[in-house]
Amino acid sequence: MRNECWGVILAAGQGRRMAEATGGEAKQFLPYRGAPLWWSSARAMAASPLVHGLVFVFPADRLEQARLEALALDRKDSCGVPFRFAEGGDRRQDSVRHALAALPDSCEITLIHDGARPFLRTALVTKLAEALRESRAAGVIPGVAVTDTVKETDPSGFVLRTPARDALRAVQTPQAFRLSELRDAHARADAEDWNVTDDASLMERCGRPVLVIEGDRDNVKITNPQDLALLAERRSPLPCCGYGYDVHAYGGNRPLTLGGVEIGGDYLIRAHSDGDVLLHALMDAILGCFAGGDIGRLFPDDDPAFDNISSSVLLDRVMTKAAEAGTRLTHVDLTVIAQKPKLSPHADAIRRNVARLLDLPLDHVAFKATTEEKLGFTGELKGIKAVALVSALR
Ligand code: CTP
Ligand code: MG
Repeated sequence: MRNECWGVILAAGQGRRMAEATGGEAKQFLPYRGAPLWWSSARAMAASPLVHGLVFVFPADRLEQARLEALALDRKDSCGVPFRFAEGGDRRQDSVRHALAALPDSCEITLIHDGARPFLRTALVTKLAEALRESRAAGVIPGVAVTDTVKETDPSGFVLRTPARDALRAVQTPQAFRLSELRDAHARADAEDWNVTDDASLMERCGRPVLVIEGDRDNVKITNPQDLALLAERRSPLPCCGYGYDVHAYGGNRPLTLGGVEIGGDYLIRAHSDGDVLLHALMDAILGCFAGGDIGRLFPDDDPAFDNISSSVLLDRVMTKAAEAGTRLTHVDLTVIAQKPKLSPHADAIRRNVARLLDLPLDHVAFKATTEEKLGFTGELKGIKAVALVSALR
């Protein structure tokens, strides 16, 4: 295919305006949502169905390290598009020029984006690429109306003029262009020694039409120290839930244990661990909150280390993993399905014990027991099952 659309993620600046606040670290490498800042906009860009690939531009002296990091992040959190890499240049426009050279022949449209704009939304990416395809413009860029009155001043601060505010737009990235035209504009800028802060300016100087479409006020560039607060605000956790389900057969040799409480009685459980069906469903639900796999994978039932192991101990390990994944449980709702034994006399003890094991307030742990009206395998007294729903923030 020769009409592909590729994104360029610029991450080769030095972040001088921010350096004092970050201890010298370039802003696009600051940690944000568990990855370097540049990764957020790469994900948003790649999520557009119109984007076929990404070129990352990193500073020459950390290109190799950042390249490996991008590939490792992609293994964990796949973007689903191919990556290419280019070395940054002294000025932003030099970095763009290097990226343009790294784009494949199959690329027709390119979207140049500041890696320091982590709040990019995929909808904007798609809108820009579509607008360029449909328009006679040589470039389509996002812009927002300015709210302050803007003055042009001389070097000593005296006002030269006040442009009419209605016509002014503060422009953002991504900026969309046809690759061949943008390459020509950069070649001319290089030959004629132009200095610009965005790519649209080059097109304008080449006399080519550039269209501004509605941008997104959230799509700000992290530039000055006070912008760091934006990163902190947006790090607030998001709600998630996990679901778990487990079954154990009767007719084994483990006394019935539910939620870490020994129930005992006539129905012995067949299991490798202690066979606590309720904690097993609960653990799978917790793992579900952060896509942490399942207990069968974490604690294989053919591993002698887990022979008759207390499920409370396994739960503790799952809770450690949840904490490592930045997941904080807020509520659990548990149901055991069994014809026999009768569980209502134990309900309170089970609830209290689970609340203790999870370090949750008692009114954030619900426990219910039900039968299946003598139907199915629980009705035939062949076994017991449990389901768990866990709510969390991460
Ligand atoms: N950029 C780049 N190569 C450069 C300069 C800038 O790839 N030589 C990138 C930055 O990493 C950033 C984007 O272009 O994602 C916008 O530039 P800007 O906000 O000016 O970032 P910096 O140049 O890093 O910051 P400063 O101007 O404060 O030094
Ligand atoms: Mg700069």
